[in-house]
Amino acid sequence: MPLNKKNYGHDPVLIETVEKYSGLQKGDTVIDCTLGLGGHSEMFLKMIGKNGTLVAFEQDEKNLKIAKKRLNENKNKILFIHKNFVHLQQEVSERKIEGIKLIFMDLGLASVHIDDPKRGFAFLHEGPLDMRFDKRNPLTAEKILERYSVKRLEEIFKAYGEERYSKKFARIIKDNIPFHTTTELAEFIERHYPMKRQRRGRRIHPATRIFQALRIEVNNELEILEDTLRQAIDVLDKGGRLIVISYHSLEDRIVKRTMKAATKQCICPSEKPICDCNHKPQLKILTKKPIIPTEEEVKRNPRSRSAKLRASEKI
Ligand SMILES: C[S@@+](CC[C@H](N)C(=O)[O-])C[C@H]1O[C@@H](n2cnc3c(N)ncnc32)[C@H](O)[C@@H]1O
Repeated sequence: MPLNKKNYGHDPVLIETVEKYSGLQKGDTVIDCTLGLGGHSEMFLKMIGKNGTLVAFEQDEKNLKIAKKRLNENKNKILFIHKNFVHLQQEVSERKIEGIKLIFMDLGLASVHIDDPKRGFAFLHEGPLDMRFDKRNPLTAEKILERYSVKRLEEIFKAYGEERYSKKFARIIKDNIPFHTTTELAEFIERHYPMKRQRRGRRIHPATRIFQALRIEVNNELEILEDTLRQAIDVLDKGGRLIVISYHSLEDRIVKRTMKAATKQCICPSEKPICDCNHKPQLKILTKKPIIPTEEEVKRNPRSRSAKLRASEKI
């Protein structure tokens, strides 16, 4: 069966921009850190041809299975790795993968995560308070609410959700545990959210920020991102590209900062009069400003609306 959006119900975000910045040629090696349902990887395979190699990380077993079925139809050289992308450098070295021309990340959730209430990501449909990308991870959102202190919950809601009422919600959620389902928690937050805020044309559901914070904590998303970006810069071949699509400001800030740091000539503390760090810049930024989807793409695929793409090249 030909591969298309209809078979997999998925529209890869900013696909033409990814193609433009990938710089891929026939025979190249590419690493997709976030295989998902394989939308972007399908394009990479076409670009690198039968002599190219695709290495694909995916921590979600179900998505990996779907993507495998989809991509294996083409009989390319593909290495599927059912692991968190934080193991990038280790896998590259153990498997002796060389000449990497592109490392790609399309962060966050796949549409199947949101569409399946059983995964516990969507607050509008009832499901267990789970939010794990990887079912092997023992920590669910429900357990976090039960085990973490009020102080720790407040920190998480503030840092990862940028929730202005983090203190209040940490306290009242803790006073009312257990919460077993997504809707139970979402309705509780909605009931207790200051009315003034809700009425003043808030476009997002009052539970959005707390759900985002819990998801980031369950999957340790931000720490892993920073660590993996550094690994990616190290393992890329000279002239190879790093492309990252992020979906919220916390992720984008990390991508921007880490890429920028890798362009620096010198990393000596500012009080040092003479540079002795011997640091060499590793990257050249290709996108001065992040690239965002066109209005037309957002209309076609509303989930692309918050996407930001940054690309850089190893020097
Ligand atoms: C936005 S989707 C990727 C969609 C993909 N580009 C496509 O076109 O089908 C992100 C995927 O990355 C996976 N993922 C997120 N964080 C990950 C991590 N740290 N390690 C491995 N996979 C991860 C998620 O499970 C999800 O399937």
